[in-house]
Amino acid sequence: MKQLTITLSTSSTTQQIPLPNGLARLPLSEILRRSSFSLNTRCGGRGLCDGCLVHLQSGTLRHRTTGQLISPIRSESPLIRACEHTLADTDLALLVPARSLLAYEPQVVSNFKVNISRSNNPIWQALSLSPADLADPASALSAHLDAPVAPLPNLAPNTTTVAAEYTCPTWSILGPLDHAPANPLGVAIDIGTTTVAVLVVELATGKIVASATGFNRQMHLGDDVLTRINLCTTDKQMLSRLQTAIVKDTIERLLLKALKESSIADDQIACLNVAGNTTMLHLFAGVDPSPMGFSPFTAPFLEHRILPSSKIHLKFSSPDASTNTNGIISTDPAVHLLPSAAAYVGADITAGVVSSGLVYDDGPSLFVDVGTNGEIVFKQGKKMWGTATAAGPAFEGSRMACGMRAGQGAVSHIKMTRTDSGLKVDVEVIGNVKPTGICGSAYVDFLAQARESGLLSPSGRFQSGIADDRIAPCRDLGQGFTIAHGHGHEPIIITEGDVASLLQAKAAIAAGILTLMRKVHAAPESIKTLYLAGGFGMHLNIANTIRSGLLPGFRANQVQLVGNTSLAGAYLSLLDAGVLDEIARVAKEIEMVELNLDPDFEDCYIDQLML
Ligand code: FES
Repeated sequence: MKQLTITLSTSSTTQQIPLPNGLARLPLSEILRRSSFSLNTRCGGRGLCDGCLVHLQSGTLRHRTTGQLISPIRSESPLIRACEHTLADTDLALLVPARSLLAYEPQVVSNFKVNISRSNNPIWQALSLSPADLADPASALSAHLDAPVAPLPNLAPNTTTVAAEYTCPTWSILGPLDHAPANPLGVAIDIGTTTVAVLVVELATGKIVASATGFNRQMHLGDDVLTRINLCTTDKQMLSRLQTAIVKDTIERLLLKALKESSIADDQIACLNVAGNTTMLHLFAGVDPSPMGFSPFTAPFLEHRILPSSKIHLKFSSPDASTNTNGIISTDPAVHLLPSAAAYVGADITAGVVSSGLVYDDGPSLFVDVGTNGEIVFKQGKKMWGTATAAGPAFEGSRMACGMRAGQGAVSHIKMTRTDSGLKVDVEVIGNVKPTGICGSAYVDFLAQARESGLLSPSGRFQSGIADDRIAPCRDLGQGFTIAHGHGHEPIIITEGDVASLLQAKAAIAAGILTLMRKVHAAPESIKTLYLAGGFGMHLNIANTIRSGLLPGFRANQVQLVGNTSLAGAYLSLLDAGVLDEIARVAKEIEMVELNLDPDFEDCYIDQLML
């Protein structure tokens, strides 16, 4: 029997792959993987993601479920999903577009876990044009990107390089460049209500070259989303103050700090991707969020938006960047706001649903993002339901007696052991230095262990009658427990007021999970995977998280920590335009469940306030 071959072409290479016998039943994507040519099968070969699209240039393939045969007709090369087709006893010639090539497997990056693969298809690209291409540059560029291109600006006859940007669902040509830049960079930003994280990323490799995190400076004006919306409703001046607080006082400062510390030229930045809750994105864009403050909670915009940096007064290029020594790019790079699902399920969640892999999980599975709001998405089969609950900033360390973000000097874990001589308390400090404060993961440890050791009552008060000189009145914050000492023997304490805030936060999230699951007729024990996301990073102790009551009724082997998935989605969608498509799809597919309309929620919340 004649051995069949696949002739496999990309934009830069062509190779022949001999096909061993016995592969007839396997999907084409699997045959290619076994031949060391992996496609970007990020949905696991379930026909959901279009990461495995290839052009069939010659030969015949068979659809796996319908049995239908497909071949090129005249010069048309059909675009087919490799995961949905098997061989049909012919040689094949395939053209694989860049966006279907696997660039990176799932991995842990920075303080998040990326559970899906990606291709190398950044949303900003420098493309070369040959003199022949200039006869019909639109067709040439469309062929290069293997995607539709919006009408082109007029190009001079000597143009050799143009900048292209993905504007979802088409590409736009921004204009000519002097020459291809050496190392274009993108910026991924997560705007949390309490904290903001910035990553500077090489678009060609995905390497993170600089990063910074800090508190959202809007905190000075209002703690939570609703307070900030109300400020805009009652005082029209507040919108611009809140925009300045996030754009200039927070992001611009963090970005300049990250660039300076890494000695990176600011004129190498080609584009920025921003994820965040819907209110944060409105305030960042300078759009009044007031309609989200009252029923029916309508967001003025949810869709993917692109703004020039200058439009929001985000400025990080040095004044001489316009001299353009590196052939770069723009002194006014575009800012992409990722698409949101609803007023209270924002782009932070749509980004997380994709980067965590929930979108490709048949479930029943849950995605829970613990932040100032707790957002929850339940997935079963192809359907997703989402909801949000106001948790307050306690787990992010804000408004706590000694709270801080996870970083150098933060107590990240607490271990309490009963010994003959009393309660022994050990702490783990990030950076192994003297502690300066306490971050969310340690507060979760404390809730679980202080209750188990008898230090706290079920209502979160220090038990009366315990003789322990680490418990003492603490200013006007009630009783406090000293868990460690910092510089100058400064006590690092957790007060009853802190515990009350933590209990409110955990009750809001736990009640949100239970009420949503009741609505969709699911129970904790039936959940296959619970993806736990949040600024806690990857370091929560899962057993303590369950014992604290934050995840009521779950087992440790159901829980997977995925870290800051909002930032992960912003990062991934810089590097793979297909991820941006997927986030846009998720934004449209999540069905909203309103907890405030559910009579069970209030009762459940009150029950969950206990330890
Ligand atoms: S792997 Fe084929 S569609 Fe996702």
